[in-house]
Amino acid sequence: MDRGVIRFYDFSPPESGFLEDVLTGLARSPKELPAKYFYDAQGSALFDAICDLPEYYLTRAELHLMERHGTDIAAFIGPAAELVEFGSGSGRKTRILIEAARPLLYSPVDIARAQLESASREVAGLFPWLNIAAICADFARPLTLPEWKGLATRRRVIYFPGSTIGNFTREETAAFLQAVRRLAGTGGAAVIGVDLKKDPALLHAAYNDAQGVTARFNLNILAHINRRLGSDFHLQGFRHVAFYDEAQGRIEMHLRSVRRQEVSVAQRRFAFAEGELMRTEISCKYAAEEFQALARQAGLRPARVWFDDDRLFSVHGLVAE
Ligand SMILES: C[S@@+](CC[C@H](N)C(=O)[O-])C[C@H]1O[C@@H](n2cnc3c(N)ncnc32)[C@H](O)[C@@H]1O
Repeated sequence: MDRGVIRFYDFSPPESGFLEDVLTGLARSPKELPAKYFYDAQGSALFDAICDLPEYYLTRAELHLMERHGTDIAAFIGPAAELVEFGSGSGRKTRILIEAARPLLYSPVDIARAQLESASREVAGLFPWLNIAAICADFARPLTLPEWKGLATRRRVIYFPGSTIGNFTREETAAFLQAVRRLAGTGGAAVIGVDLKKDPALLHAAYNDAQGVTARFNLNILAHINRRLGSDFHLQGFRHVAFYDEAQGRIEMHLRSVRRQEVSVAQRRFAFAEGELMRTEISCKYAAEEFQALARQAGLRPARVWFDDDRLFSVHGLVAE
């Protein structure tokens, strides 16, 4: 069998976009920071540590689901596919899928360059026959995939595991699914991991682990911003807060200012009141039918849905029509 080739593409957004996003978020009321900025090298490592926490059922449930239904999901994807993965991270689940589906081309897309490079090299080591186009990019922005000549791929399939889609609001998700539909092209498909609605106590525990790893992950966004923009957030001045908002069907993660304070970012000063909350992430939870309705509206036909045995997590197989 031929050896695969690995290519790296840097489509990362300009530094000015990072500054603009942070300034815009801090000027809002209430303040917020974009969740994508959790992921510097430290943030990626902390997220991987979260995945191993006893309270964080999401990764275990999705891995279990992939192990149990991987062959079926591979059959849904079909042979000689171009598999594009959004938010590939460490790629743990993807390895199960690559093994089962044996795509011709695998294109992981992630904003965290260091992890993208290391995970892509690991995948190349495990599957030496696989062609890999590793793309450092923001998947929330319009994306044109690089052309790879000479490969007879039959179908493009967008893989989006980890329930990362939950970080979009429901309105953003509708628009994002339309972009997925366009990128997949008619006859293409999407395989999307979506966390399910469940007992709020389980959800609360998953985002408030006893060891405080999620708290460190949350606070790391400030360290990342300080490093990239020379700002002066004091990490000790903020505390991790996460709760389930039942009416909105979503976890909200915030940083609470423990005192009155001012922070400078690029010569602009932002005042925080004592107790003020700044939102850093949402994680929407869906009933399977609710997500299917959103997909349908975006021109993605719900063809299959797989669950883990405990019905904690779902993976949707959608066909672009
Ligand atoms: C919740 S983690 C999931 C990682 C992995 N897919 C999993 O299932 O364990 C989210 C991943 O998406 C990446 N990410 C988050 N926002 C992104 C964006 N706007 N564009 C590209 N990558 C993004 C992060 O760097 C991280 O690797």
